[in-house]
Parts: sequence; structure tokens; C-alpha cells
Amino acid sequence: MKKPSRSHAGAVPAGDAATVPSISSYSAPTGFFVALAGLLYLGQAEGCYHHGLFSAGVYEPYADLRSIPSLGGPNPIDAGRDVYMAAGCVACHQPNGTGNPANGCPPLAKSDWVLAEGPSRLIRIVLHGAQGPITVNGQPWNGNMTPFGGSLSDEQIAHVLTFVRQSPEWGNAASEVTPEMVKAVREKESSRAAQWTAAELEKIPVTE
Ligand code: HEC
Repeated sequence: MKKPSRSHAGAVPAGDAATVPSISSYSAPTGFFVALAGLLYLGQAEGCYHHGLFSAGVYEPYADLRSIPSLGGPNPIDAGRDVYMAAGCVACHQPNGTGNPANGCPPLAKSDWVLAEGPSRLIRIVLHGAQGPITVNGQPWNGNMTPFGGSLSDEQIAHVLTFVRQSPEWGNAASEVTPEMVKAVREKESSRAAQWTAAELEKIPVTE
């Protein structure tokens, strides 16, 4: 009897098993995956810590939306710091907001006037100035602050007072002052020319 030829065979003869393709000897390239994971980690770390080739704003953890410079114009705290320097508040109240006993200028850093719940009295002080006895954090002062209503816009006054109330370097953290608030007080007090006294201001609610 003739042996069946191999070309017709359905089964492979046992002796040829080694020639059948088999995946049993395949092993995954572990080193490749380890290297890939390492590169992915380095890639995200570069993005996170050195912001890759993107603008730092893409990755930096901004505290709130207003501190992102491209949203809503200049950051009011930075803009207000510029006004504080340029308008001359700094000469009397000093760069660190401590005021200056030699000039009779009370402190703004941690001042109970500055940190009041609302800015209504502060807006009036900047618009028309202030003079006479005033008690700041329990200490008596008696000086003369020039008015700024004629030289600063509503926006500049809002910015400088937001800086004064929120200055991170002075540790102040009160609410923001908006140009609309300044505009409203300016209109309400349009007939006023005299500097304010603390006694007059204390009759005005801090949020009005
Ligand atoms: C010429 C010096 C001088 C300048 C400039 C000046 N201040 Fe004053 N400021 C004073 C004095 C003095 C008082 C206290 C007034 C009083 O005795 O009634 C005062 C009071 C204040 C108060 C309330 C009291 C307190 O200590 O919290 C605030 C707020 C204030 N100033 C903010 C400003 C801002 C903002 C500017 C700039 C736009 C400015 N001042 C510019 C001298 C000055």
C-alpha cells in the first residue's frame, strides 16, 4: 500500500512539528514598555514643571480666573500696585504699607479701615482726601491726605484700592473694589469738595 503523499496529508507527521509556527516562545519586550512609560513620565513632567514649548499660563496653577493676564484686562492687583507707585501713595504710606509716623501717615497694611467689609469710606478718602484726627488700629493719627479724584480715573482708584485691600505682600485679603463702585460714589458725592474727616466717614456705612 502506498503511503499518502505529504501534499495531501491533513495531519502533519509528528517528526515535522518543529517547523510549525508557534507563539509559545514569544516574550513581550518589557524593556520597551518600561522605557515608553519613562518617556511619557518625563514628557508630562516637562510639561508640568517647565511648561514644554507652551506659554507658562497653560500650566501654571493660577489661583483664580482674574489672575490669568489674558482674561479681563490687567490683573487689578498688579495694575493697582502700579498706581500706588505712580500716584504717590507710596511716598506717604511707604512701600510695605506701614505708614510713616514721621509724616503722620497711618498704615494701610492690616489697617482696620482698609480691611472694612466694604470700600465706601476708602473710595471717599481717595476721591476727596482726608484730614484731622483718625484712629487706625487703635492708634491716633492726625494728618492730611491730598485728594485724588481729579487725577485718577474710576478704574485707577478701583485698582489701587483693590491692591491696598488685597496686597499679598502686606497680608491684606479684603474684597475687590470695582470701577462701578467708584463711579457710584463719585456721582453720589459730586457736590463735595472738602476733605473728609474720620468723624464724617464713620457715619457712612462701609458698604454704601
Ligand atoms: C501726602 C501723603 C499721603 C498720600 C500721597 C496718600 N495718603 Fe492716604 N493718608 C494720609 C494721611 C495723613 C491719612 C490720615 C488722614 C487723617 O488724618 O484724617 C491717610 C489715610 C488713608 C487711608 C485710611 C486710613 C488707613 O490708614 O487705613 C487710606 C485707605 C489711604 N490713606 C489710602 C491712600 C491711597 C490709596 C493713596 C494713593 C492714591 C494715598 N492714601 C495717598 C497720607 C497720604
